[in-house]
Amino acid sequence: MTGKFISISEALKQGKGKVSVRGWINRERGSNEFKFIVLRDSTNIIQCVLKREHLKNQWSEIDKLQIEASVEIHGTIKEDKRAPTGFEIQVDEINVVGESKDFPINKDLNEELLGDRRHLWLRSRKMTSIMKIRDTILDAMREHWHKKGFYEYHSPTLLGMQAEGGSTLFSVNYFGKPLYLSQTWQLHAEAGIFALEKIFTIQPSFRAEKSKTSRHLTEYWHAEMEVAWEDFEYLQDDAEELIKHIVSRVLKERKAELEIIGRDWKKLEATLKKKFPRITYDDALKLLKEKSKISIPWGKDLRTIEEDKLSEMYDTPVLVRHYPKKVKAFYMKEVPNRPKGKEVVLGFDMIGPEGYGELVGGSQREESIEKLKENLKEQGENPEKYEFYFDTRRYGSVPHGGFGMGTERVISWICGLDTIKDAIAFPRTMTRYSP
Ligand code: 4AD
Ligand code: MG
Repeated sequence: MTGKFISISEALKQGKGKVSVRGWINRERGSNEFKFIVLRDSTNIIQCVLKREHLKNQWSEIDKLQIEASVEIHGTIKEDKRAPTGFEIQVDEINVVGESKDFPINKDLNEELLGDRRHLWLRSRKMTSIMKIRDTILDAMREHWHKKGFYEYHSPTLLGMQAEGGSTLFSVNYFGKPLYLSQTWQLHAEAGIFALEKIFTIQPSFRAEKSKTSRHLTEYWHAEMEVAWEDFEYLQDDAEELIKHIVSRVLKERKAELEIIGRDWKKLEATLKKKFPRITYDDALKLLKEKSKISIPWGKDLRTIEEDKLSEMYDTPVLVRHYPKKVKAFYMKEVPNRPKGKEVVLGFDMIGPEGYGELVGGSQREESIEKLKENLKEQGENPEKYEFYFDTRRYGSVPHGGFGMGTERVISWICGLDTIKDAIAFPRTMTRYSP
């Protein structure tokens, strides 16, 4: 018996008549006379019923079928209200393509064991749904920037200098010379805007984060943009529009997946409807003191608990800007005419709602070579390694800036995940590097 294979979701749409589908056994139960299979493919699941009287010759093979075996099925589909997706296939013919014996995920396992068996856990409905949402989010980012005339541009991963501070650098032995894995595309992006003016990337960044939190990976997909001629406000507008576009695409196309993973997607609607508040670091300290009774000495960075307290005050992301200069990266532009010791920068963090932490970090870039050198020296860096970077200021320097968004942070928030590890197929953290 032949027939062109269609996906399970196409079969469900067809709803009656002969169908041929293929996939993996998600669940099975049987008796002497029947075998019920829930078949899954990348699109959906469907219940299939196999009757011994029709499949006598194959019965011993069918009887032994276990979860995750791959099979091809030909049969007749009909509506059945009791079946999990409302339809059932009466099987005329089954072809076992790949056997599966004792699939090692068959009961509730703890996070560690599921991490060890990640290559198999990816098949779960939860992971499959998250990976589809991730796909939509990446597509939405590209769509957003392409529509605005940005070019996708890439920078090297192997670098001789740092941009985000020495404490999170991974060293690489590069033919006997010390190099690092990139923490950001930024320094090489700042060179690219003199050719392309508006650019973005979506590529891995690496951070040797020793913290074991639910929001840090050592390798994450960094969505970054850099623009020539634009000011600080433009960067914040673009970050807000980007997040709104992502949420709108996910709500339009992936509600079914959000429901499978149990996400209350109504909580995302405020992000679409409301303008994100923009407050200064000074405002943040005041709010934390008044509303949360937390007092932070001026000049200290906001930690996770403070970000979480701020996050509780809003149902949309909130932008905090004008951070003290000394807690931010060397390349951020200083706000002019601030009192000594109270210098702040044209940098912003976007903090996600529901305690998902910093989703975006960005800034206007410092143009003065002298200031850049001073800042680098203060961090114990040798400015000589940055000569190529200073050239961008020597030859036709223009006001410019950009930001970086943690793709997995945004996925975690949109999906309502307990850990950022589930936002990526094979997570890397200090303690998790296999499979
Ligand atoms: O704030 P960060 O360090 O900024 C930069 O790297 C800038 N150079 C970006 C730019 O202006 N082009 O990182 C940007 C974002 C953070 O807001 C956060 O969402 C994410 O990257 N991020 C991480 N995500 C997962 N795991 C980690 N360890 C992360 N570190 C930063
Ligand atoms: Mg940051």
